[in-house]
Amino acid sequence: MFARLPYRFSRRQVVTTAFCCSAAFLCIQLLVTYRCLDPYQGADVPKAWLSRCAWTLSTRLSDWNPSCAVAVRSLVVSQPPVIYVVTPTYARPVQEAELTRLSHTFRLVPMVHWVVVEDALERSSLVASLLKRSGLPHTHLWAKTPEEQQLRPNDPSWLRPKGVLQRNAALRWLRSLAPRSDGVVYFADDDNTYDLRLFEEMRYTQRVSVWPVGLVGGLLVERPLVKNGRVVGWNAAWKPHRRFPLDMAGFAVSLQLLKKHPKAQFRMNLPRGQQESHLLSQLISGPGDLEPKANNCTQVLVWHTRTERPKLNMEPSRSRQQGGAPL
Ligand code: UGA
Ligand code: MN
Repeated sequence: MFARLPYRFSRRQVVTTAFCCSAAFLCIQLLVTYRCLDPYQGADVPKAWLSRCAWTLSTRLSDWNPSCAVAVRSLVVSQPPVIYVVTPTYARPVQEAELTRLSHTFRLVPMVHWVVVEDALERSSLVASLLKRSGLPHTHLWAKTPEEQQLRPNDPSWLRPKGVLQRNAALRWLRSLAPRSDGVVYFADDDNTYDLRLFEEMRYTQRVSVWPVGLVGGLLVERPLVKNGRVVGWNAAWKPHRRFPLDMAGFAVSLQLLKKHPKAQFRMNLPRGQQESHLLSQLISGPGDLEPKANNCTQVLVWHTRTERPKLNMEPSRSRQQGGAPL
């Protein structure tokens, strides 16, 4: 019925060909099925996974082979802007829990670089190993708040500004050493709660973008008021006459703008609640320059949650003071 094939294949040739075809098929499957490589990536975002992979590689390579890092980085040049998330943090019993929760959120965000700044005299191994385990591209810095400026155990939490020198250390790093000069900078405290959608809202910030923050300033929602796409006022009850009456969690700044104003930063000795206005006043001329996000500032995508200080009266006194489990 079939014409005879011009060649006779030996059994060995047939087996070898079948083996090679199967191996090639498996390789292709492995390459295109990103889940084979990263079981933690649940969402259908192979492109995002690939770009994050290339980004992580380039950050790691830059330490020992800059030209190799540049080559890998060129793979992600056409990718969306990076979000540099800046988190000040300090040693206390809940620190590891806070940072674990945060890292699990940030792992789900494509193209994020986490800049963690410890309020300490040196990097701690607790934070270093947590960052390593997170698998996120990260930078681990430290800056110690001077003793006289620190909160004492029984001081009310509002008595002194927090995270100021740490955020300034991050700004210095961002301006001089950040792997990409485009991107957006977001100051994400370690105890807040972040909706993943927030990061896509801020990603294409031109100068400064703003949105509502839940559970802050004595309100369920503190938010900019928007008319015809412009910020025209504020729904703020606490010190509403501040120039920009918003919380640190309520805005993001483009890295380009921060580079254009190389001296703009936070300041230790400011009245309570003025850090945000102080920074923004150095970058833009007024609320009219703000870019409202989150559906014209009607959606809450971040909450100023605060973790209760745990009662550890059954613990020996040494482990009560320090972070981590007393095991
Ligand atoms: C509010 C604002 O949301 C903060 O952005 C602002 O920094 C802070 O007030 C302020 O008073 O300066 P609040 O919840 O009172 O936030 O402050 P914390 O969450 O206790 O601290 C803000 C950040 O600074 C956190 O990421 C925290 O880990 C860090 N921090 C706090 C330090 O690095 N060192 C400290 O001694 C205390
Ligand atoms: Mn807080």
